[in-house]
This record gives sequence, structure tokens and C-alpha cells, in this order.
Amino acid sequence: MSTKVQNIALLTSGGDAPGMNASIRAVVRTCLYHNLNVFGIYDGYNGLIKNDIKEMKYKDVSNILQSGGTILGTDRCQEFHEKEMRQQAFENLKSRNIDALITIGGDGTFKGASIFSKEHGLPIIGIPATIDNDISGTEYTLGFDTALNTTISALDNIRDTASSHHRIFLVEVMGNNSGQLALYAAVASGAREVFMPEKKEDLVDIKNKISQAIKMNRSSMIVVSEGEVGGARGVKDYLKSEGLDEKIRVSVLGHIQRGGRPTFRDRLNAALFGEAAVVALLKGKTKLMVGITDGKLALNDLELSQQPSSVINMDYLKLIRKLSVY
Ligand code: F6P
Repeated sequence: MSTKVQNIALLTSGGDAPGMNASIRAVVRTCLYHNLNVFGIYDGYNGLIKNDIKEMKYKDVSNILQSGGTILGTDRCQEFHEKEMRQQAFENLKSRNIDALITIGGDGTFKGASIFSKEHGLPIIGIPATIDNDISGTEYTLGFDTALNTTISALDNIRDTASSHHRIFLVEVMGNNSGQLALYAAVASGAREVFMPEKKEDLVDIKNKISQAIKMNRSSMIVVSEGEVGGARGVKDYLKSEGLDEKIRVSVLGHIQRGGRPTFRDRLNAALFGEAAVVALLKGKTKLMVGITDGKLALNDLELSQQPSSVINMDYLKLIRKLSVY
């Protein structure tokens, strides 16, 4: 194993995701295991530009793997789009002899990382973390499983009211432009329908299903991805314009889906990804993203993350419909 890399820095960037802390712990502990120095950068690329960087020791990552969010803080940093700011960021790393970087985040994070690595020849490895699970080049991103379970639990709670009052609930879930969270939560919570950006809606068909449910005095859960134009309120407006309103309620789950204790799957993948990222740098690798391919731990080109993601399983949609026919 080559030991050229000696001082590794890490940052979290973009939306926080459960499992980020567990991956920070894994990176720090793996570095210490290999006698490397490791530095935490605060608030994503912002801290890199502002030189908000601190060496991390064993205890700095004690008791963090079970909590959501990120102890390093995060940001969607606009300044990092500017070349002079990236130059400043590089100078800050150079002044501490930092010779490699691990970035934990989503496609925006990796876009910045790829440019930065190309400009300054700095070895960089990415760890995918976003509740949206929308990064091409990996089947899994940290935080997705936890967010999914939180969403399912919220849907279960809403179902209590839906069934007690024989109501129709339009529940909006996060996911940015990806319907994965919506689709998977819908199949796991017995939803009647799901609206998501990956498919064109037949609104008349949905209206008919809902009128049928109302006529039969049944409750229904309809999951609406936030990436769907208009979201849940947009669907409700349409139904209202068609004369359906009284029995319909909207619930927007929002950021409740992003926090919370990571599940087993997120903790395990965080440990695997964090360790693999450090080992990859030790082996002299760069511009790669750790992730899952065909169910196994893999390292893929970081730039793959910039392509449209296509892991959504549309068969679930057929299943949802088959299982909810009256
Ligand atoms: O990418 C994670 C995510 O929670 C998306 O699902 C959502 O669209 C977005 O971030 C919200 O971002 P913010 O918290 O910056 O408003």
C-alpha cells in the first residue's frame, strides 16, 4: 500500500442526511488507524474558503454515529462556483499540508469536488449522502433508508386519521427531482397512488379513483413527490376544481424526513463508505466515489454522479396499483 497521502481533510456539503456523522466517524477512525492526520472542515465548502478547519482526534468522533445531521455542519455554498474562491480554498489546504480531500454529500458536492480536483491536482474521493438517493454511479446514498422509514412512519400516523374519518390524504414527501422516496414510501405504506416526476400523470384517472373512494366512504393515502409540479397542494387544487374537496386533506411532511437517528443500513454503509474512501486515497486513487453497484461496495468515477440517475424501480408502481384495486 502506498503511503503518499498523509494529511486528509473531510467535509460534508449539501443537505444533511442521517449517516453523515457515522461516515465522519469512519473516515476519522480509519485515518487514525493508518497513522494519518485528519482534518474536519466546517460548513462544507464555506469552511474551506474561510479556513475553518480543525484537526480531528479519536474523541472528536465519539458518540456521534447514532445522531442525524452532521457535526461538521453543511451548506450549499455558492462562492465555491468562483475560481478565485477555489484558489483561496486550495491555499488554505496547502498551508496545513493537506494532500487529499473526502467530500460527503450529493451531486452538487461532487460537481464542485471534480472541478477542484482537476484545477489543483488534489486527490479527492466522494461519499454519497442525500435522502433523495438520486446520484448516478451508486445504487445507494446515505440517509435514504432512514428518511424512508421516517416517511413511512409519518404515513402510518396519517393513516390513523384517514381511516377514522374516511378521508383522502395527499401527503407530500421530499426527494427533489427524484420520486424514489415517494414511490418506495408509497409501496411500503399501502398508498393508493403516487405522483412523481418520473411519470406523466393521468389526472382524470386519479380523479376517478378518488371519487370512487369518496362514494364508497373509504380512506385513501396518495403520496405526492415534491418534484411533481405543484406538489400535493397542486393536486388538491385540481381536485377542487373538479368539485372534490370536502373529504380531502393535504399534509406536507417537509424536513421531518431529513433528521433523526440513522437506521442499521445507513450506519453500516456509512462505516463501509468511510473506510473505503480512506483506503482508496492510500492506494493513490482519486476522483472516485464510493457507493454500491449490483449490491456490492464499489468505487466509480466521480463524474458519473453528474449523469441523470436511473435506479428507480417502476415495477413498484404496478404493484401499488394492483394491491389497491377495490
Ligand atoms: O436533497 C435533500 C433535500 O431534502 C431535498 O429532498 C429537498 O428538495 C431539498 O433538500 C430541500 O433543501 P433545503 O433544506 O435547502 O430547503
